[in-house]
Amino acid sequence: MNSSDPITREALRYFQGSEGCELLVQAAATDQNPLRIQEQLRRSFPAEMCRAGLALVELRQRAGKKFMRAEEMFFDREGLEMATREEVAHYRAWRLRDCEKIMDLCCGIGGDLLALGQHAEVLAVDADRRRLAMAQHNSQVYELQQVRFIAAEAQSLRMNVDAVFVDPARRSGQRKRRGEGYSPPLSWVADLRTKVSRLAVKVGPAIPEEDLPPDCEVEFVSSGASVARERSILANWPQQAAARRSYPNATPSKPPPDPTLWWHRPGPISSIPTPPWCVRIYSTN
Ligand SMILES: C[S@@+](CC[C@H](N)C(=O)[O-])C[C@H]1O[C@@H](n2cnc3c(N)ncnc32)[C@H](O)[C@@H]1O
Repeated sequence: MNSSDPITREALRYFQGSEGCELLVQAAATDQNPLRIQEQLRRSFPAEMCRAGLALVELRQRAGKKFMRAEEMFFDREGLEMATREEVAHYRAWRLRDCEKIMDLCCGIGGDLLALGQHAEVLAVDADRRRLAMAQHNSQVYELQQVRFIAAEAQSLRMNVDAVFVDPARRSGQRKRRGEGYSPPLSWVADLRTKVSRLAVKVGPAIPEEDLPPDCEVEFVSSGASVARERSILANWPQQAAARRSYPNATPSKPPPDPTLWWHRPGPISSIPTPPWCVRIYSTN
């Protein structure tokens, strides 16, 4: 955690109580100059909670582009930047729709978890306790019933589930392009396909081809009008061979020739939002 980040675990606990809730309501209700608001809030609330509250309100406003219930959720700046957008998370959860028990091994603030937990029992893991507390709160905002939380290093756990989803951290300090710079490293993550029946991994759009395991489906995923935001590696899918398509020259900016594949819409799943939140995907090996 960045030591200057005011959104501490103590602040999160405070915002779950009635006084903290009132602070957040007052902080969000005004469009005055931030210094003036802070001065006003400090008359009624502890100074460090005012700083945290204003930071959280600003993140909630930004998060509106990613999450429908952003104004009730908890975030830290980096956790929000790394979080999967809701529509993409729904798409990936759809790909895991026949798994009953899933481990979300690096759950962060819960971007993917919020979609996975709508149709499966999920064990959410993160090494960072503060972020795990955010994911826990966010799962309550989305009224998830079947989620459990564990603060742990992913590598220390036994995988006794149907499927594992991993979104490794790609930016401690600076962005990591290579799989070995991820946390946990991509080689460790890719080995999980020998231990579980399904494995899905989110990787960055700029990861070099040679870092991707050769025997997996690789999918580019984007949303709205953007080109690919990320790739997913999917291992051990039934009929994977049939689902694979070979587009040797395909890149995020140069999609495969068949527009029906490029515009493939997953479904049926009721929670997939309709356009303009349309998920565009194509698969390549
Ligand atoms: C990219 S973020 C996950 C984002 C999440 N999928 C979402 O949509 O909100 C990666 C997370 O992995 C966690 N992490 C990094 N290394 C880890 C490890 N070895 N074990 C468990 N969690 C780890 C970080 O604390 C961070 O919250």
